[in-house]
Amino acid sequence: MTAHTPKLFVKSYGCQMNVYDAERMADALAPEGYVETESADDADLIILNTCHIREKAAEKVYSELGRIRKMKQETGRRPKVAVAGCVAQAEGAEILKRAPVVDLVVGPQSYHRLPELLREAAEGRRPVDTEFSVEDKFDHLSRPAPKAIRGRGVTAFVTVQEGCDKFCTFCVVPYTRGAEASRSVAQIVAETERLVAAGVREVTLLGQNVDAFHGEGPDGRAWSLARLLERLAEIGRLARLRYTTSHPRDMDDDLIAAHRDLPKLMPYLHLPVQSGSDRILAAMNRKHTADEYLRLIDKVRAARPDLALSGDFIVGFPGETDADFEATMAIARAADYASAFTFKYSPRPGTPASDMAGQVAEAVKDERLQRLQALISKQQAAFARSLIGRRIDVLLDRPGRHTGQLAGRSPYLQPVQIVAPGANLGDVIDAVVTDVGANSLFAAPAGGARETHREPAEATA
Ligand code: SAH
Ligand code: SF4
Ligand code: F3S
Repeated sequence: MTAHTPKLFVKSYGCQMNVYDAERMADALAPEGYVETESADDADLIILNTCHIREKAAEKVYSELGRIRKMKQETGRRPKVAVAGCVAQAEGAEILKRAPVVDLVVGPQSYHRLPELLREAAEGRRPVDTEFSVEDKFDHLSRPAPKAIRGRGVTAFVTVQEGCDKFCTFCVVPYTRGAEASRSVAQIVAETERLVAAGVREVTLLGQNVDAFHGEGPDGRAWSLARLLERLAEIGRLARLRYTTSHPRDMDDDLIAAHRDLPKLMPYLHLPVQSGSDRILAAMNRKHTADEYLRLIDKVRAARPDLALSGDFIVGFPGETDADFEATMAIARAADYASAFTFKYSPRPGTPASDMAGQVAEAVKDERLQRLQALISKQQAAFARSLIGRRIDVLLDRPGRHTGQLAGRSPYLQPVQIVAPGANLGDVIDAVVTDVGANSLFAAPAGGARETHREPAEATA
């Protein structure tokens, strides 16, 4: 053994599940002595945690690998380089051929095998592990130390479900993350309790199709997401719960009722619609119509009137006409989003839509994207302005931009800047929105920095 402490740098692309997975990789390597570093330049192991969802996302990996190769040449350093995530799963050994700088390739279900793969890499082999078994991964991943959890802040992700069986015709996720699988309720509760004991106040449950969750409950039966949320809400010091991403087809009445009945469940819903045209929705294999989506939103808003709605849209899906796109503009107007992500359709190898007739010209996609983005930005700004003068809870989760300022999140997930003397990170404070900026709200404590995170049971006791 040498005194040298090996350093790990993980660079994540793509969705929140990759952020969660990055932490799991660090946890898997902590028993091997690895500590995390902020930069690739002093790392002994560089892991690119990749995303395959759109062409640009996948291409970023190869340009980053090019930079690493140059850095190795210029500095003479010899860090090991691993490619993980969805590009690893989709391209496997191809990556080794295309990028000689890569020492190992590991798919999203094999992160618990990293120590072993690194030993193989140290012997000069270039292992590729893209086996599929979500159960294995969750059974074998190391637990983070409380100190590691604290270093990651007061909000945390917990994967509860992984993979997807929906097979939307544009999407690679069913191929990169595999079939839908849910973790057991016991495992999720234990993980959440550990996070909360180390100071986490807000947990976001993650799944590619989180509302399809059907994990085994303590009674041996499959529990729904609503039931899981109800169980997690019983954890005393946990202040806030969120979940993402949902599919409209899996939003059941119990989950809608949870938005009415669970004060800890934040009034925010990310519910992608992709298109407002029934013809395109059918071609996308989304299995619902525009009208069904709008009726669903009405139901959720009836349960939770202040719900902030978020979504995803794809413009320029093969065959999308001007009329189809106008239907997308119409559904966006009708649904009235607090925020939304808009994407240009990107053909993905191996997916049915990539071979469909009627691929849309780039210039047309650009124009549609701009129009939709302009509409969403207007809605987002109007929603933020509607909060001026209103009282909101703010979870303080980071230092602010200026001294004395703290930053946090509104219940609707907006960043909030606040001056709250005496308040600490992790507090949930009662505040009044005073102004809106380009990307955040400004707020002031309502009648002093009152801590509002007490449990209802404790508060009434
Ligand atoms: N599981 C989630 C999201 C998966 S990917 C869901 O079912 O909605 C996140 C978003 O990326 C999708 O909602 C979609 O809007 C977008 N996306 C997926 N594949 C795409 C592609 N080939 N081109 C452009 N956008 C895509
Ligand atoms: Fe992809 Fe559709 Fe599954 Fe979402 S539901 S991950 S868009 S296939
Ligand atoms: Fe990307 Fe994989 Fe997430 S393709 S969006 S990293 S599931």
